[in-house]
Amino acid sequence: MLAVEKRYFITTFGCQLNVHESEKLAGMLEELGYIEGNDISSADVIVFNTCAIREGAQDRAIGNIGSLKKIKRKHPEKIVAVCGCMTQQLSESEWLKKTFPFVDIIFGTSNLYEFKDFLQRRLAGEKRILEHSEDFNLEGENVALKRTSGNNAWINIMQGCNNFCTYCIVPYVRGRERSRSSDEILEEIKEALKGPKYTSVTLLGQNVNSYGQDRDEISFAELLRKICALKGNFKVGFMTSHPKDLTSEVIDVIANEDKMKKEIHLPVQSGSNKILAKMNRKYTRESYLKIVKEIREKIPDCRITTDIIVGFPGESEEDFEETVSLLKEVKFDDIFAFMYSKRKGTVAEKMEGQVPEEIKNKRVNKCLALQKEIKRSKLEDR
Ligand code: 5AD
Ligand code: SF4
Repeated sequence: MLAVEKRYFITTFGCQLNVHESEKLAGMLEELGYIEGNDISSADVIVFNTCAIREGAQDRAIGNIGSLKKIKRKHPEKIVAVCGCMTQQLSESEWLKKTFPFVDIIFGTSNLYEFKDFLQRRLAGEKRILEHSEDFNLEGENVALKRTSGNNAWINIMQGCNNFCTYCIVPYVRGRERSRSSDEILEEIKEALKGPKYTSVTLLGQNVNSYGQDRDEISFAELLRKICALKGNFKVGFMTSHPKDLTSEVIDVIANEDKMKKEIHLPVQSGSNKILAKMNRKYTRESYLKIVKEIREKIPDCRITTDIIVGFPGESEEDFEETVSLLKEVKFDDIFAFMYSKRKGTVAEKMEGQVPEEIKNKRVNKCLALQKEIKRSKLEDR
């Protein structure tokens, strides 16, 4: 009998970190002999890598998983796995297991590296698997990887976040900051650059500026300098920076090193000091503007982009107008504007002054329309 090729299909929700982790899921599947399929219906193993940052992202994942019911009824032999930030929350995993009896394997971000084992156990006949762990480590950095992002190589430099911005679920689903060793990072980059197609390296972390502070390691600026010193024709970018930790030294490296991409994503979230304090962002409108000024002075052609949250609890019309005025003042190259979304277990969930959806909607639309105008006039000024 001819061996039939087994296929997998992964659907990824959320940020670049999830995209990169799906490269690891693919790597593990290929180690087991699976090949990438073109769609869900032809796949033997179907994986959903979920996001939990806002309710909308979570609902989209749930909708997609729910739509598998029919396929799985016809083909009970297919294996369905759900992982990622949503299922790092035990309450969500248990809800998923109860609601979708056709899901075979559920695990979180902390035990992604054990996926191969979970799959093999299920294939060997074990009942439905739900694995949860709060032991956040760096094991995920050691698994096989199948790079899928064109000419860009994603490189994790650290995991987790210590900041506890009051709206954010990330510290709960990704654990505390854990930096990888700089030697390991440099090795991984050198290895990736051996493939002739990689002309871009993007360093990933929730707050790359605090790289190395949790262990005896070099600083982020030093790491960037070492990466730029590697041989080859490639550009280096990173995401994401926290404005409270972006140092002049890092700005200087971006200014002085040819290999550094002239771009910084610097999420401001709000233009109101009152709201920034309630968000626990640990910087002010004024200190943020000072950093932008320094970037613009040292790197005049630097692209600066940001994230905005509108409708955070207690955001008055005046507070919102301060965000609008900040957008007008900075004239970002691009913005990502989000309506505040309540996340279970965060401090802001319990705050008074929750803003009605229709007001959030109006505010987000105002930001987006304003940004469109700003982009247009920047183009005209060129
Ligand atoms: N509601 C809305 N937006 C959020 N973000 C993070 N948490 C929330 C939330 N609860 C946004 C922030 C962050 C980006 C990745 O997602 O702007 O910078
Ligand atoms: Fe979330 Fe704040 Fe950490 Fe970014 S810095 S991941 S917004 S807690």
